[in-house]
Amino acid sequence: MNIAVVGTGYVGLVTGTCLAETGNHVVCVDINEEKVQKMKDGVVPIYEPHLDVLFHRNIKAGRLSFTTNLAQAIEKASIIFLALPTPPGEDGSADLSYILGVANDLGKIINDYKVIVDKSTVPVGTAEKVRVAVAKNAKVAFDVVSNPEFLREGFAVDDFLKPDRVVIGASSEKARKTMEELYKPYVRQGNPIIFMDEKSAELTKYAANAFLATKITFMNEIANLCEKLGADVDMVRMGIGSDDRIGKRFLFPGIGYGGSCFPKDVQALAKSAAEVSYDFNILTSVMNVNEKQKTIIIPKIKTYFKDNLKGKHFAIWGLAFKPDTDDIREAPALYVIDELLKAGATVTAYDPEAMPNVKRLLGDKIKFAADQYDALQNADALIIATEWSLFRTPDFDKVSGLLKNKVIFDGRNLYSLEQMKKLSYYYCSIGREVVK
Ligand SMILES: NC(=O)c1ccc[n+]([C@@H]2O[C@H](COP(=O)([O-])OP(=O)(O)OC[C@H]3O[C@@H](n4cnc5c(N)ncnc54)[C@H](O)[C@@H]3O)[C@@H](O)[C@H]2O)c1
Repeated sequence: MNIAVVGTGYVGLVTGTCLAETGNHVVCVDINEEKVQKMKDGVVPIYEPHLDVLFHRNIKAGRLSFTTNLAQAIEKASIIFLALPTPPGEDGSADLSYILGVANDLGKIINDYKVIVDKSTVPVGTAEKVRVAVAKNAKVAFDVVSNPEFLREGFAVDDFLKPDRVVIGASSEKARKTMEELYKPYVRQGNPIIFMDEKSAELTKYAANAFLATKITFMNEIANLCEKLGADVDMVRMGIGSDDRIGKRFLFPGIGYGGSCFPKDVQALAKSAAEVSYDFNILTSVMNVNEKQKTIIIPKIKTYFKDNLKGKHFAIWGLAFKPDTDDIREAPALYVIDELLKAGATVTAYDPEAMPNVKRLLGDKIKFAADQYDALQNADALIIATEWSLFRTPDFDKVSGLLKNKVIFDGRNLYSLEQMKKLSYYYCSIGREVVK
């Protein structure tokens, strides 16, 4: 099939590349000229494991190309994916201006029957808004389909190629059949393509993200309670996670959820609920708790340093909002850094992939290290903000030799309390005893 993907961010580029991988011809279009030029030059503009191999293979095979010209991109396409940003507007609702702007343009330029697929995360009713925006100028028939994306950054290629499920919201039989054909190669193991109406598909995505954010937040609250009651959250986690009804995943406590999806999607769902006069209480609590959790480590640091962080120097391991991505949108590390700088401390950070993005954001407000050990020189303490694998088993002899004090504040519970006791560290983590 000939496919156009509008927007080549984390979702669009993975979608385009993975669709080309099964033999489709894909043209990716983006308004960011620099990004498009990079891709034309063979450079993957984001960090996503395994993406580069597929990216280069499909460009070489002539199945994947890039342009800034929307009309050119959609000319031969029978399916047009919209993978555009839906950032929070001022009132917390999803900003649909990117989607509706492109929908408006598509109405003027579509030359043949097209299936227009909304892959962005959008509030209930957006498919209808897209339909109206396209129809305003369209001279040919078209259908609009809602196909929310569930990929996880860091596992995006795997998730796209072998999805747990594909959700398709479509009222047109013709569009439904086209989507079924397109996704068949990805569900050969029998995972379902679930067809439904557009509104239910749109809500499914928000419900999934809000549920996961709630699960993380619940566990963070249990962790905070463990600290007050003297229990160990790791034990509680294992105790409840072995119950099938609860499951082992998304039970790890930490310094809050971040990223480009959970914060904005929880907020947008709460806003959608408020618009129909439904008070979705649990979401308000999730947002409030997460807001506090992002800097929960700061009072712990202040307690250790007797409320005086002026002139103290901190090493931070991890900047990305989670491991295996360079995405720093709403990353808890940024909130921690902000609080440290406000208190008069200085920071040297290391992250395997996210440093260029943070550098663009913070400039020379903090220093960046060449590797994880380089970050530790002269630091009064180490703070762990992202659970990258390479931080899990560091050379502690080296760590101890470089840090000024053997002090670690671990926002991701990477080390066992026994190990920290043996190594004589002051070790403060989340929901567990402080090792002194
Ligand atoms: N990132 C994720 O893990 C993830 C997962 C599932 C769903 N989503 C949803 O998918 C959507 C896209 O997310 P993302 O993370 O890929 O965003 P992103 O910001 O990484 O990428 C969006 C891209 O769209 C481009 N763009 C903006 N306006 C454009 C226009 N008029 N024409 C062409 N291109 C344009 C931008 O230049 C950018 O490259 C959002 O709704 C998001 O909520 C994201």
